[in-house]
Amino acid sequence: MKFRISNVVPAVVLFTGIASALSVHDSTSALKRETAKPRRVHSLLINPAGQPAVPSLKAATTAANAAGLNLDDIQGDILIGMKKMKELFYFFGIADVASFKTKLATDILPLITTTTQMLDNSTQPITLLNIAFSQRGLDALNVSDSLGDSDFFNGQFEDAQNLGDPGTTNWVPEFTGTGIHGVLLFASDTVVNINDAVSSLESAMGNSMTKVYSLSGAARPAPNAGHEHFGFLDGISNPPVNGFTPSPLAGQSNVSAGEILVGEDGDFGTRPDWAKGGSFLVFRQLKQLVPEVRTSFGARMVGRWKSGAPVELSPLFDDPVLGADRSRNNDFTFAETTDQSGCPFGAHIRKTRPRIDLGTDDTGRHIMRAGIPYGPEVSTDEATENTTSTERGLAFVSYQSTIGNGFKFLQQTWANSQFFAHGQGPDPIIGALAGAERDITGLDPTDTTKTTKLTTDFVVSRGGEYFFSPPLSAISGKLSI
Ligand code: HEM
Ligand SMILES: *[C@@H]1O[C@H](CO)[C@@H](O)[C@H](O)[C@H]1NC(C)=O
Ligand SMILES: *[C@@H]1O[C@H](CO)[C@@H](O)[C@H](O)[C@H]1NC(C)=O
Ligand SMILES: *[C@@H]1O[C@H](CO)[C@@H](O)[C@H](O)[C@H]1NC(C)=O
Ligand SMILES: *[C@@H]1O[C@H](CO)[C@@H](O)[C@H](O)[C@H]1NC(C)=O
Repeated sequence: MKFRISNVVPAVVLFTGIASALSVHDSTSALKRETAKPRRVHSLLINPAGQPAVPSLKAATTAANAAGLNLDDIQGDILIGMKKMKELFYFFGIADVASFKTKLATDILPLITTTTQMLDNSTQPITLLNIAFSQRGLDALNVSDSLGDSDFFNGQFEDAQNLGDPGTTNWVPEFTGTGIHGVLLFASDTVVNINDAVSSLESAMGNSMTKVYSLSGAARPAPNAGHEHFGFLDGISNPPVNGFTPSPLAGQSNVSAGEILVGEDGDFGTRPDWAKGGSFLVFRQLKQLVPEVRTSFGARMVGRWKSGAPVELSPLFDDPVLGADRSRNNDFTFAETTDQSGCPFGAHIRKTRPRIDLGTDDTGRHIMRAGIPYGPEVSTDEATENTTSTERGLAFVSYQSTIGNGFKFLQQTWANSQFFAHGQGPDPIIGALAGAERDITGLDPTDTTKTTKLTTDFVVSRGGEYFFSPPLSAISGKLSI
């Protein structure tokens, strides 16, 4: 145990028995993590039946101890998936380095929510706070160690073309420069709680940082909580992580912690010691043209029906009972149908995790998706006019230990290209050819060889940035010294 994290242990671990593993005492540190009060009684997370559940504290602790993961050092947003009720992404610039570093340790660190804290309603804070830095932010903090990820190093602006974006004219202007040093994630069950947390943090930080841009997201209103704006239940196939999830559900692979977390078992990158337990956070603001989409093939584009039922197992109609059954809704490998009579080869979930198509059920390249919808529900005017008047979409977040093996590979090599032998075209949801027409087969179940020509992108990239979500021990150590 090389972490000096005794100074950042949340009070909760003192009565969960993990504290014994954290024997090092740093008496020179004045920093103490206090249990924030008052505590909540209701979870700040949604829990749709079709998504994998967040493990119990006991189950996660047992799994973590067996695998050597320190859930008190890993920020709380990384492993819990697409479950926040309300979330604010607050992009900031560092204005006064010395003052920012001091306040990072004294004002931000005590409020950072750990993974352990998220596992029980009674230990969740009123508002979750997490922080992540861009390479420009690490530069500003004079942290010169390489994190061993060239995409992170270069930043997302440099990557627009590689990702299939038609340039950066559609990008939110703030994402096109180098002014974003980091992002603060605030999550709660009410916007009021989030606003309170933002104002108190802003007043504590004073002039040490500036707000560059923000985006607020929310789970869609009942009965659509957990569904993205096109209507489909999301977050179903987030991977079970060894050391966190007690055991994989049917059809899930046993994913090494190091696919998601830097420096853990299964991460083959070269990383500084202080980065262990961190994760690269990819942020993308993906606008969705909901009223414009007039196609009857939505389920075949996604590979799931709106309920989450996989098209592979239920090709012709939605099966809401299957969709809501987390023990069955991932239990397929695409070997069930050999042509496109089941799931089209180009469907979004097949493109982003091909399963047996690549000869093995576990193709690796897992990401943990932790995004949330943003923007309002479609208004009656928008529905009548078939035209978006207020932007909505997905505040996409993925965590992975290497961006080029995770998000970037899925987007560039799988979603945007014809990589299967069948030449069925790019992903109809997120595949992007710099705005060019996308020709896709398999969408029409009555003639699966027919080519459908998609002349507009239903998902428009508004840009984003690549960040690193450090372990708490680095926030109290390397980054604030
Ligand atoms: C607005 C944009 C997007 C929408 C509307 C969307 C929607 C969905 C939906 C409805 C599912 C099925 C639910 C599930 O299996 O969890 C899904 C799965 C998935 N999506 Fe997306 N998605 C979007 C962007 C992305 C991007 C940018 C990536 C990565 C480059 C991505 C990667 C994945 C992955 C890996 C899965 C799970 C595949 C599996 O393991 O079966 N998605 N998405
Ligand atoms: C936590 O809160 C959720 C939703 O408010 C509830 O369904 C669940 O039973 C609670 N869990 C515990 C352990 O109290
Ligand atoms: C930046 O860090 C280097 C060591 O990596 C140190 O020599 C230098 O003084 C630091 N600069 C500032 C402005 O803190
Ligand atoms: C997952 O894999 C690890 C080895 O990487 C192993 O120790 C663990 O027991 C496996 N878990 C399950 C549930 O199969
Ligand atoms: C909107 O789309 C529907 C269905 O395709 C169509 O009947 C209607 O005329 C369209 N409305 C406008 C204003 O174009």
